[in-house]
Amino acid sequence: MSHARTQLETLGPVTSEEARLLEKLDISRLPRHIAIIMDGNGRWAQKRHLPRVAGHRYGTQSARIAIETCARLNIEALTLYAFSVENWRRPKTEIEFLMQLLREYIRKEMPLLQRNNIRLRFLGRPDELPEAVRRETREATAATAKNTGMVLSIAVNYGGRAEIVDAINAILATRNGHLSQQLITEEDLCHHLYTADLPDPDLLIRTSGEMRVSNFLLWQIAYAEIFITETLWPDFNRARLLESLLDFQKRERRYGAITPPAASAAR
Ligand code: FPP
Repeated sequence: MSHARTQLETLGPVTSEEARLLEKLDISRLPRHIAIIMDGNGRWAQKRHLPRVAGHRYGTQSARIAIETCARLNIEALTLYAFSVENWRRPKTEIEFLMQLLREYIRKEMPLLQRNNIRLRFLGRPDELPEAVRRETREATAATAKNTGMVLSIAVNYGGRAEIVDAINAILATRNGHLSQQLITEEDLCHHLYTADLPDPDLLIRTSGEMRVSNFLLWQIAYAEIFITETLWPDFNRARLLESLLDFQKRERRYGAITPPAASAAR
C-alpha cells in the first residue's frame, strides 16, 4: 500500500512488528489531536526493584518516541500529562526529581523539536512552579514559537477543573465585571481554555490499565475515543502507539447522532 510506504520512509527504520502495523494503518484517518496520560512509571520501576524515579527517567524515552512518531505521521497536536495539580501530594524528593527531570528534558529535546518543526507549549498554572522550571518553559516556548508543524503541549501543574475556573475568570476579566449583560457560552469558554486554538482530542490514551480520566482535559475530551492499555508508560513504544491508532480507526464516531457524520463534518 502506497500510504504505508510513505510512512515507512518518514519514520525511518522500523521493526517488522511496526511494519506489519503500518501496513494496516489508514493515514487519511488519523486523529488530529492525541492526548496521553503517561501512567505506570512507579510500578514499572518497582517491578524491577528500582527506585520510582527510575521509572520517570525511562518514561522520558517513551515520550520522545511518541513525540517523534506523531510529528512524522503529521498529527496536528499531541498533549502529554506530565504533572497534575494533585501531584504536589507526592513525597518532596519525587517532586524535586520530576521538576529537575522536566528542566533537563526540555533542554535535551530541543534539537528533536526543532528538527521535526514542533511548536512546544505548556498547559497549567505556571505561578506555582519553581522559577527555574518556569524560565525553561518560557525559553523553550519562545524558541519553538515560529515552527509550523505539530503542537506539542506538556501539561505541568495542570488540572482540568482549574483550567475551567481559569477560563471563567479570564472571561469575567474581559467583561470588567458586567456579568449580567451577557451569558457565557460554550464558545466563550473554549476560547479561554489553555488549549484555545487546538482541536479537541480525538483520542485519549491512558497507560497502565487505570480506568480514570484524572482531571485531564475535562472539557476537551467530551467526544474523545478512550484507549486504555495495560502497558506501563516506560514500555509504551512505537508499536504500542501504532496499535492505539489502529484501535481508534476501528471505532465508529457518532457525536451523539445515529450514523457517523461525514469525515469532513466530524473534523
Ligand atoms: C505517572 O506515573 C507519571 C507521572 C506522574 C510523571 C510523568 C512524567 C514523565 C513521563 C517524565 C517527564 C516527561 C515529559 C514528557 C516531560 P506514576 O508515578 O503515577 O506511576 P504509578 O501509578 O505506577 O505509581
